[in-house]
Amino acid sequence: MSHPSRITAPQILARKGKDPIVCLTAYSAPMAKILDPHCDILLVGDSLGMVLYGMPSTLGVSLDIMIAHGVAVVRGSQKSLVVVDMPFGSYQESKEQAFRNAARVMSETFCGAVKIEGGVEMAETVSYLAQRGIPVMGHIGLQPQSVNSIGGYKAQGKTDLNVKKLKQDALAIESAGAFAVVIEAVMEPIARALTKPLKIPTIGIGASPACDGQVLVSDDMLGLNTGHVPRFVKSYAQLAQDIGKAAQHYAKDVHARKFPSAEHCFYAQKKVKK
Ligand code: KIV
Repeated sequence: MSHPSRITAPQILARKGKDPIVCLTAYSAPMAKILDPHCDILLVGDSLGMVLYGMPSTLGVSLDIMIAHGVAVVRGSQKSLVVVDMPFGSYQESKEQAFRNAARVMSETFCGAVKIEGGVEMAETVSYLAQRGIPVMGHIGLQPQSVNSIGGYKAQGKTDLNVKKLKQDALAIESAGAFAVVIEAVMEPIARALTKPLKIPTIGIGASPACDGQVLVSDDMLGLNTGHVPRFVKSYAQLAQDIGKAAQHYAKDVHARKFPSAEHCFYAQKKVKK
């Protein structure tokens, strides 16, 4: 159930040019509960396909998977706007397909908005959803669902043509009615040039402090990712090491029969004489 004081998409839009917007990914109820007090937006990103399920890209993530994790994150949080990623193949076919699937996400998870990747080519779809009660966050620059077309996870905006396209994408998504737009993996001057003329906030990932807010994949930020960590990530903790050490300690205690000890065991209750 949505909390009465949950941050809304219009409130995020109104933050343009004000206090930076804090966004992190969350995929589960307990993680949402921990992150919620510190965030404005919890993003149920389709990055969960790679982070949680070990998929080689985000392309294998289904709508049902996104809905299951969306439900968990809404349950675990109280204050943040929960945005659920529309997975690959769930919105690109037509605006009607996008509406049908986004409506499922909204009605089954009670999240506050969806995110879709794409610029000019998705503007009509963004507009169709936005006019029908579905707040949309855009996602331009590096679009992981297009990894096969772009030939890898590469920074965007390296050619003049590419920069022109990025500007067109940003303006198209804004005109279509998105309340915010994620900008992924672009150089600082480009992020600045995209952010300044827009009336909607830009949320950067690998896109410099010129953006109106920042998002990171929580597992990267927490040092839980034992694989490749992108250059733009700052690790604020080393949880993978801590978990490894804790498991090693536990295994040692089990082998030495030091765990469980008396305080972790059940004993028959002694009868108390009255
Ligand atoms: O899927 C995701 O986590 C994302 C963020 C990286 C922006 O789209």
